[in-house]
This record gives sequence, C-alpha cells and structure tokens, in this order.
Amino acid sequence: MKVLVIGGGGREHAICRKLRQSPHVTELLCAPGNGGISEIAECVPIAAADIEKIVEFAKSALVDFVVVAPDDPLALGLVDELESAGIPAFGPRKNAAIIESSKIFSKNLMKKYGIPTADFQSFTEIAPAIDFIRAKGAPIVVKADGLALGKGVVVAQTEEEAVSAVREMMEDGRFGKAGASVVIEECLSGTEVTVLAFCDGKTVVPMVSSKDHKRVFDGDKGPNTGGMGAIAPAPLYTPELAEICTERIFKPTIDALNSEGRPFSGVIYFGLMLTAKGPYVIEYNARFGDPEAQAVLELLDTDLFEIFRAVREGKLADTQIKWKSGSAACVVMASGGYPGDYVKGKPISGLDNVPDGVFVFHAGTKSDNGQYTTNGGRVLGVTATGAMLDDALTLAYAGVDAINFENAHFRRDIGRT
Ligand code: AMP
Ligand code: GLY
Repeated sequence: MKVLVIGGGGREHAICRKLRQSPHVTELLCAPGNGGISEIAECVPIAAADIEKIVEFAKSALVDFVVVAPDDPLALGLVDELESAGIPAFGPRKNAAIIESSKIFSKNLMKKYGIPTADFQSFTEIAPAIDFIRAKGAPIVVKADGLALGKGVVVAQTEEEAVSAVREMMEDGRFGKAGASVVIEECLSGTEVTVLAFCDGKTVVPMVSSKDHKRVFDGDKGPNTGGMGAIAPAPLYTPELAEICTERIFKPTIDALNSEGRPFSGVIYFGLMLTAKGPYVIEYNARFGDPEAQAVLELLDTDLFEIFRAVREGKLADTQIKWKSGSAACVVMASGGYPGDYVKGKPISGLDNVPDGVFVFHAGTKSDNGQYTTNGGRVLGVTATGAMLDDALTLAYAGVDAINFENAHFRRDIGRT
C-alpha cells in the first residue's frame, strides 16, 4: 500500500513512525512533512491545506490511502474531496469536522443532547458580549469560534481581561474570521484529561488517556500554546471514570452527530475537565492531539494502518486494539518566544546523543544535508516510555538535556502538575 500522511508536525511524525511498522505500508509519503519525517517517509512539498494540489498529487502518484491529520484540511473538506476522487481517506468529512472548526456548533450540540459542558452564550456582536461579561463577572472564558492554532481561548481572571480578549477577537481581528464570533462561558475548575478515540460512525473505541500541558511556563503559567508536553495514561483517569465518560460523553456525542446527519469517522478528541460535578467537555477536536499523539501512539500495540482501514470501512467493532502497559512522556522543546514571535533557523545539536529508549519526534525542523535547524514554534517532542510514569519522565528529560539549540525553551514540570 502506498500511504500518504497529510501534515508536518510532531503528531504526523508519530503517525508516520507507527505506519512504518506496518507490513501493509510498502511506501510512505508525507505532505509537507518535516526534517525528522524525511528520515522515514518521502516528503512532498505541498502545504497541508492546499486541498486541490493534494488531491491532484494523490491521483497522479497513485496513492492507495491518505491519512488527514491536521485540523485545517479536515475543516476544508479534504477527506470529502479525496473520497470523491476515489481515493480512500482516513479522517472525518467536513460536516463532522465542524465539531472542532466551530465552537458555537459544538457547544450547541452538547446543549441540545445533554452532554455536560460549561454554561455559555455565543455572540456575533461586540456590545452584547461585553454586557454578558459585565453581568457574569470573572473568572470567565472567552473563545474564538473558529480555528486559531490552539490560541483562541482566554481564561480571564478579571472582567477587563475578558473584555480586551473580546475586543482583540471581534474588533481587532486577531484571528481573522475565526474570531468574528465568540463563545463566552463559565470558568470550570478541575483536572484536565484528553481522551482520543477511534470512531467509525457507529463504534467508539477510546485510546489510552493522556494529559497535555497547554500553558507555556512551569506551574501552568503564561499563555496557552498548542501543547508543551504530554503524558499517557493520565493518572487520575480511573476505569470508573472511563465508564462514566463513555456513557455520558463519548457515546452520546457519536449518537448526537449521527442524529444530526453528520456521522464521525476518524479520531475524535475529547478535552475533558474532571470537575467536582463529574467530567465536563472543554472541547472537541476532530483529530489526534499534538503532542498527545506522540505519547499515546508510543503505547499502541496494534498495527495502526489496520485500525485506520477498519475505521474507514466501518469495521471498528471487529478490530481488537491492544495497548502496552506502562507510561509514556513527551516533552516539547520550543523556540524561545513561542507562542509569540520567535526566530527560525537555529542549528540543533545533540540529536544523536539522546539515551537509548528516547525517541525524538520532530515538530518544526528542517534538514539541510543532515544538519537540522529549527523551523517552527514547537521544534521537538522528546519522548520515552517506562514501566512507571516517573521512569518515562526521567528518560525523556535525559533526552532533553542532551539536545541543544539557541533559546530553546521547555517546561521542567511535564507530568508533575
Ligand atoms: P480549548 O482550546 O477549548 O481546549 O481551551 C484551551 C484551554 O483553556 C483548556 O485546555 C483549558 O485549560 C482552558 N479552558 C477552556 N475552557 C475552559 C473553561 N470553561 N473553564 C476553565 N478553563 C477552560
Ligand atoms: N494538544 C492540544 C491539541 O492538539 O489540540
């Protein structure tokens, strides 16, 4: 099988690494890929959101199966286009990917079907949004409706902070069209857990749970990022909780999407908050999380291609999915300044000096004749597994300590908060 993976971050590196282990995958391509991915797949220089070029390429290169990993091409309907062109593709169609691309859609869906989520209202005009903030008081959460690289959420501790977030999104156009409408919601407190699940429209199979660390600095300080590190499984996510989440959240979500005529096929991401009142949905995504995928897929003990194919064919109920025992940890090394402005092109050293058992996923790197340089905000995802979470963390951090690039920034407390 000739398989094409769409995307070019750490998550796609993790997906490619698993697909490389499948005997079904004889040829592996990735568009656009990155420096690290180029070691295991042929990188094709087409942007992930260039729908037309990807379909054209997949047809002309006689690709047998496409895996669409990032949010943008899913929201733009790449899976629909590929399938129309007769190319089997893994991922939700546009009408189901909307659970990520519109927070207003997903909040209304949860409200309609009684899926636990924070109380909210949505706004397309600035004045009523500000009145709502004044009426509710702080803390309060402001979210851009559309896709904003994981940066469209402000957990405001004061009314002023919430009002300026609304102004930035709706008046200054910080996220373009994505911020033209906003959701303003109740601030929940509790521990966050991510559960990724394979879903073929009928059956939902949760993966090992995980936990992302979204804030840029230690102690969960600073602005939100795409994710600074992940562990799997999440220690607080007990089998009892898993049962509750399946009954109250996972199955109802899939049923709700079916009732709306939007069957979901692919990976669905449940961002959960474990509150005193039980688990609540913070967000849905229509794809693997990044960096959660790097940790979770390291624990997968089943051929990932077979799972993708079963999902695409609606045969997930017949597929046994096995997981390794133990834990995985992924520590993201980012460019200094991220999630704000940062400089690219810094040479990376020490990649060959990481201890055995550490795998370094590349998120934003470029390779020039074997010399890797930084090429993004999140640069590397240094990942390890171990019998206990502590073992995985110690090994991953030993990997981080072996690697260097100017102004590298990473958190020291992944898995510890
Ligand atoms: P999201 O992009 O929706 O996952 O939001 C990013 C982060 O903002 C989440 O991981 C939470 O840490 C925080 N967050 C989002 N919604 C809420 C909420 N209603 N209450 C408290 N924190 C929230
Ligand atoms: N790590 C958060 C996300 O992938 O959305």
